[in-house]
Amino acid sequence: MKPIPYIQGIGKLATLYVDGKPFYCRGGELHNSAASFPEFMSAKVWPSLRPLHLNTVIAPVYWECLEPEKGVFDYALVDSLLVQAREEGVRLILLWFGLWKNSASSYIPQWMKLDRERFWFVVKRDGKLPLHHDRPHRIVSPFCQEAVDADANAFSHLMAHLKEVDEERTVIMVQVENEIGVLGADRDYSEAADAAYAAPVPEILAEAMGRSGSWEDVFGEDGPQQFMAWHYALAVEQIAKAGKAEYPLPMYANCWLEQEPWIPGTYPSGGPISRNVPVWRVGAPSVELFAPDIYVDDYKGTVALYGTDQNPLFIPETRLSVANYLYSVGAYNCMCFSPFGIEDTFDSEKEQVDFATMEILHIGPEAFAKQESVGRELARAFDYVSGMEDVIRRAHEENRIRGFLWTADHTEKRELLELSGMNMHIRYHDPKLAGSGGLVVELSDYEFLVLGINCSFHFTSRDGTRLETLTKEEGQFVEGVWKRGRILNGDERYINMFTDKVGLNYFKYTEE
Ligand code: DGJ
Repeated sequence: MKPIPYIQGIGKLATLYVDGKPFYCRGGELHNSAASFPEFMSAKVWPSLRPLHLNTVIAPVYWECLEPEKGVFDYALVDSLLVQAREEGVRLILLWFGLWKNSASSYIPQWMKLDRERFWFVVKRDGKLPLHHDRPHRIVSPFCQEAVDADANAFSHLMAHLKEVDEERTVIMVQVENEIGVLGADRDYSEAADAAYAAPVPEILAEAMGRSGSWEDVFGEDGPQQFMAWHYALAVEQIAKAGKAEYPLPMYANCWLEQEPWIPGTYPSGGPISRNVPVWRVGAPSVELFAPDIYVDDYKGTVALYGTDQNPLFIPETRLSVANYLYSVGAYNCMCFSPFGIEDTFDSEKEQVDFATMEILHIGPEAFAKQESVGRELARAFDYVSGMEDVIRRAHEENRIRGFLWTADHTEKRELLELSGMNMHIRYHDPKLAGSGGLVVELSDYEFLVLGINCSFHFTSRDGTRLETLTKEEGQFVEGVWKRGRILNGDERYINMFTDKVGLNYFKYTEE
């Protein structure tokens, strides 16, 4: 029987293993409602995904559909997703839309929605529901133990079912809930929450933080947010643990990032934003990693916060960008890169999203922008990387790989990378939607692979010695073996440039 997928190693070099082998998710996440209707999936979604050459699709499982009546479980949607993914030859990462989705509790089953006494909500200081864009925002309180128990029960049924029907290991990971946190207030002010807030920080957390006392004593003015982080983490731990007891797939929690105006509650307070992760880690040890949904402009800064010695980089949602992908692969042992709303890329009849909706979602209008040409280049980038995964992994182990990326704060569109044996001088071109950047692998001090888009570059020696090109080739790796195309000599010897298309070149130099 195939082994259950697992994560091995810690921090930056942690790797997901599927069928016993390292697996890098070249993925895409579906729009929220796509997986609620299998016929829609086969007619609209799968055909638009094929040109992207994904190996992983990230798709939701909805609690409201899984347990339409209390204690009655319906696995039809999950089963059809599995069948379709197998037909398409891709793996699945399932999103458990349980108690919390983008802060709200909109995916709880109707029998829960109608029982507001038992399944009660987070309230503001005045006892009223928080508002989100002037509408009452219903977030089941993490202090409502009955709700957390119900979620843990439903999730464990889902995981038990997967164990039974998925010996093929089509599902490789599960995201527990989605973008947790309180929108519209910094914390829950229900009676139960107030009582917990009045008590000292629990010993286990205080010990891990190296301070004890009240939430403000330990966390200063961030007390309310860290309090929510702790209680959400405890709830997620109960849910994830119950699921893992049935079937121990790797699990992660994703995050709506901190954003302007930087006040907890204008983004979901208590979610795993990077400064809450230490608290989450203590509260939810069953969650292997924390993953940023990157719609903010500062891509580079964000991946730096999440690709750390404690946490491997895993990006379940982001914009469609080729350069961001290549940078992530070069700068990190990136476990997953997955643009959101991926099925739009090659769908000419996609629904247009208006500006007001984007405001409610709190993401820039360009976040949903999809251009077929960018999709095609991302597919090519996926193919290039897929052939050279072993080369890239080895290079990460030996610290001989770098990523480079143009970001808006580069005043000069030039950058110097000091490599072990040489300097690489990069010039970024107009990034357009595909972005401008790439990665460089140092095969030896004098041999390089450069995979990039919208950039030009050249190498110089670190000590001023002049260099002679021995060979420059275009090509690609097929199962780890370099298959060269043209040898780029003559005029092409001087033109180190990738424009709108992704390119991969091999260089070998000697001292003059
Ligand atoms: C982040 C959420 O996690 C997704 O489910 C989706 O709602 C996107 N935002 C885009 O709106």
